[in-house]
Amino acid sequence: MARVIATINLKGGVGKTTTTAALGEFMAAEFGQRVLLVDLDPQTNLTTMMIGEERWRELNELGRTLATLFHRAVDPDADAFDIEKALQHDVSPVTAVRGVDLLASSLDLMEIQEGLSFQQYADPESHRPIEVLHSALDRIGDDYDYILVDCPPNLGMLTLNGLRVADGYIVPTIPDILSTYGIPQLQQRVEKFSDRTGHTIRELGLVITKYRSASSLHRTIIEQLQRDDRIANVVPAWIPEANQIAASAEFVPYGTLKRKYGGAGQFDALRMLTETILMNAQVYL
Ligand SMILES: Nc1ncnc2c1ncn2[C@@H]1O[C@H](COP(=O)(O)OP(=O)(O)O)[C@@H](O)[C@H]1O
Ligand SMILES: [Mg+2]
Repeated sequence: MARVIATINLKGGVGKTTTTAALGEFMAAEFGQRVLLVDLDPQTNLTTMMIGEERWRELNELGRTLATLFHRAVDPDADAFDIEKALQHDVSPVTAVRGVDLLASSLDLMEIQEGLSFQQYADPESHRPIEVLHSALDRIGDDYDYILVDCPPNLGMLTLNGLRVADGYIVPTIPDILSTYGIPQLQQRVEKFSDRTGHTIRELGLVITKYRSASSLHRTIIEQLQRDDRIANVVPAWIPEANQIAASAEFVPYGTLKRKYGGAGQFDALRMLTETILMNAQVYL
């Protein structure tokens, strides 16, 4: 059975999607893992990073995105979701990356999400609206070593669906004051959700993103995070702020991960990040 890791943070723009994409690519290309990426964010950034906008549009028209899955859950008359057709095999614009699959997101999820919230509101005791993704992934869990779920920047119904399938979670954050605000509250909410659903979701680490070595504030905040005993573990590989990492958001072909992310420390940091997460996952999950 695959180990499932959700990427969460209540803040947008902190590197959740960039981290999830890189983790998936490095797990596959550098560590030989079979990876499924699940894009739960209606912003569809992970999807377009992995397959480009044109192919996303085609999938969306054919109903082969997660919008179809969730639409069916709120409207029994809607089209059925065919996971075999929705699964996109061997994605990523990097030639050296093999064995990364994707379940694509859709902008249509924004509206569908409201339907899920309404269901939950109408029947707070029902677990159905948070079981949608869980039931869909049930049959394919054995085909992967890792399933990485990129969540939107809130704790709405889509993120709860992501947490419902997760064995562990990571929290990417920029080491500044506003980005790190509220992390303990986020951890508590995950813990409560974990109790409520009766399955353990372990914290695998806080991932420092967009680190600027010239910034004394960044250094100070990281030291504070490392000392904070509410945070189980700050991953020692800090992802530097770099133009090449920012450029990785665009879907253009690359031969290798070093070319895509850059060889001036970025590749090494991302590789070490992946190694740490894999180690933590093997110990805790
Ligand atoms: N290490 C980095 N260096 C430079 N830019 C980055 C880095 N990580 C992310 N970015 C950029 O910052 C923006 C937000 O990142 P993203 O991963 O989309 O965050 P989130 O998913 O949390 O909203 C994007 O434009 C992305 O390309
Ligand atoms: Mg994102």
